[in-house]
Amino acid sequence: MPESVADTTNDALSVAAAEAAEITTRVLAARDAYFGQDTVVISDADYDRLVQRLGELERLHPELQSQDSPTQTVGGRAEVTLFDPVTHAERMLSLDNVFSLEEFEGWAGKAAENSGRAVHYLCELKIDGLAINLRYANGVLVSAATRGDGVVGEDVTENIDLVPGIPSRLAGTGHPSLMEVRGEVFFPTEAFDELNAAQSAAGERVFANARNAAAGSLRQKAAGKNADQLRLMKARLGRLRMLVHGIGAWENPPVQTQSEVYGLLEGWGLPTSSYFRVVPSVAEAAEFIEYYGAHRGSVVHELDGIVIKIDELALHAELGATNRAPRWAIAYKYPPEQVNTKLLDIVVSVGRTGRATPFAVMQKVLVAGSEVRQATLHNQDVVKAKGVLIGDIIVLRKAGDVIPEVLGPVVELRDGTEREFVMPLNCPECGTPLAPAKEGDKDLRCPNARSCPAQVRGRVEHIGSRGGLDIEVLGEVAASALTQPTVPADPPLSTEAGLFDLELADLLPIQVIVRDAETGLPKEDDGALKIRMPFSRNPNPAEKKQGLTDLQPSSSALKLLAEIEKAKTKPLWRILVSLNIRHVGPVAARALANHFGSLDAIRAATREELAEVDGVGSIIADAVLDWFQVDWHVDIVTRWAAAGVQFATPDHPGPGAAGAAGGVLAGLTVVATGSLEGFTREGAQEAIIAAGGKSASSVSKNTDFVAAGPGAGSKLGKAETLGIRILDADEFRTLLEGGPAGLAPASS
Ligand code: IVH
Repeated sequence: MPESVADTTNDALSVAAAEAAEITTRVLAARDAYFGQDTVVISDADYDRLVQRLGELERLHPELQSQDSPTQTVGGRAEVTLFDPVTHAERMLSLDNVFSLEEFEGWAGKAAENSGRAVHYLCELKIDGLAINLRYANGVLVSAATRGDGVVGEDVTENIDLVPGIPSRLAGTGHPSLMEVRGEVFFPTEAFDELNAAQSAAGERVFANARNAAAGSLRQKAAGKNADQLRLMKARLGRLRMLVHGIGAWENPPVQTQSEVYGLLEGWGLPTSSYFRVVPSVAEAAEFIEYYGAHRGSVVHELDGIVIKIDELALHAELGATNRAPRWAIAYKYPPEQVNTKLLDIVVSVGRTGRATPFAVMQKVLVAGSEVRQATLHNQDVVKAKGVLIGDIIVLRKAGDVIPEVLGPVVELRDGTEREFVMPLNCPECGTPLAPAKEGDKDLRCPNARSCPAQVRGRVEHIGSRGGLDIEVLGEVAASALTQPTVPADPPLSTEAGLFDLELADLLPIQVIVRDAETGLPKEDDGALKIRMPFSRNPNPAEKKQGLTDLQPSSSALKLLAEIEKAKTKPLWRILVSLNIRHVGPVAARALANHFGSLDAIRAATREELAEVDGVGSIIADAVLDWFQVDWHVDIVTRWAAAGVQFATPDHPGPGAAGAAGGVLAGLTVVATGSLEGFTREGAQEAIIAAGGKSASSVSKNTDFVAAGPGAGSKLGKAETLGIRILDADEFRTLLEGGPAGLAPASS
């Protein structure tokens, strides 16, 4: 029997009602945890998503919306508190959110349309802190209160007195008889990181985010604390800061715009933000949003978005507010830099240098715009300090391009099935007992440097890398295929000593199967990876039966052999990098190659002779000498030489003559800093050395040029002070090509 339309509608309604009820329970639990106990049970992003979904359901089924729905209410419940209640003179609202520029434009269009005139937008940073209401009567601070449920907050006046920068008496004159100033109390990022490091060192719980830490610090009671605890509490309050971002009760402020309000507040000694801007168009507001989206790290506090307010106060009154939020302001939320995900496992991997590193394997999650499923946990002490258990819901942070970091567990969400990570005693790849390289080291290493497959694999990959011999086909997959023990055969390479002896017959039996990290199934049609597959069996099934002799080389296998052949005559510095000598990267290798001209000369040099080379120094000198003490290292050189590898720069005049003599930068010291378009940091250093110059890392009076790109920081200031010529990326390129003579005269 066909369903009636009414039945379908009722079904849809009851499904929506069930979903709305579940979301409401979760949101209220999250609010209780956050406002009552300063803990986190879900991430901000998940919270926002839930409230957004609830809003959608309520728009589809208005009958589901009640006055106390989380979409209609603000913040915590007033009863969950140890503090005296303070009734705000005017209600403290929250902000509605938008998550894309289109949504922002939609909001702006509506607000402007309703106002019927041209508007200005005041754009400012959304501080990740705790909302506070300061009440001043005739210029004297009478109370400071948290937002609470928006009507009644908690009296934190005593603690606010210890937060620097909040005047107990306003400066200047003309103070209103009653004025409420709203703002955000927060931990500057640096203070927050230090606080968490101290918490972690003391075995205390770390705060999941800066806002939580601010709330936890401000909502402490002095009563019942001993002298030490009191000192700690005061020290923490002393690291907090406040920025004001608006007003509550204030009869007829003597100005027309929000930005003028900020001017007045600043004049009275209140801390206002220096980051705001008033713009006349939506496009310019979007630019502000985009700029800070890309520069979140350059601000002293955490920010999770931008608040855009209509600047004209007359329009605030006209547009009014919903139960929850004003219509004249909106929060643009950036993609979260902090999310929750499940810690599925902690796995130990061994790298090129033998270091055994535990890393977190997580349920795949989108954070700061990219998908993450793994993050390093550095060593077993870090795992302990973070307090994470396998199976925990964890807080993961990734800021922009920064490496993802596990911050800690959400302890409240444990269900008892979680288990502790135990650092293995033996190398997971070769079974050798792990040990610290030297006493007191926290990192454990696999001492089987010569034959541990993980280390050989890492070294072979390093040889193929761009900073090494730059062998296009020799990446991660090929290095793994060449060094993986196969049943019944040994791997083609048991160490890198045999790299230049490889023949086609060694490569033919290798079949590379790239597996999906999540499912473990072969990845048949992943185009990107297939291109990296170096070798393949003949794909014809009939021929397959005929055995290994009938296998056909893949084009990658042939290319690998050709590239290896070419690599034999690559510049000496690349060969040096490929020997995997500790600390000898491209920069040191170039310095050694330029100075000595051959591996024999390097080997014959004394510690002093090595150390005095510009860009080498005693640590690298020792590492070079130590390297030659190991038999199997020497064996690599012998076998590579026998295979035809060139360990000398043709026509080099000998040690000390420095190939630099002919370089366009001979005798010049250049510092490269910031991101120079077209260069990696190492690439810029290498280019300086290749041109015969000295690449220095700090600016001094001996510096001849500073090549600086965006993010150059203090080096730029120092160069200016010392009157050193600063070059942009284009001028730097000119310098590298033609030396100082090629540069146009300095503009000032
Ligand atoms: S204006 C009527 N400006 O974000 C509410 N709020 O998620 C006006 N916040 O409750 C608030 N930075 O506590 C405003 N620059 C800023 C802000 C800001 C952080 C907080 C504020 C608000 C919450 C909403």
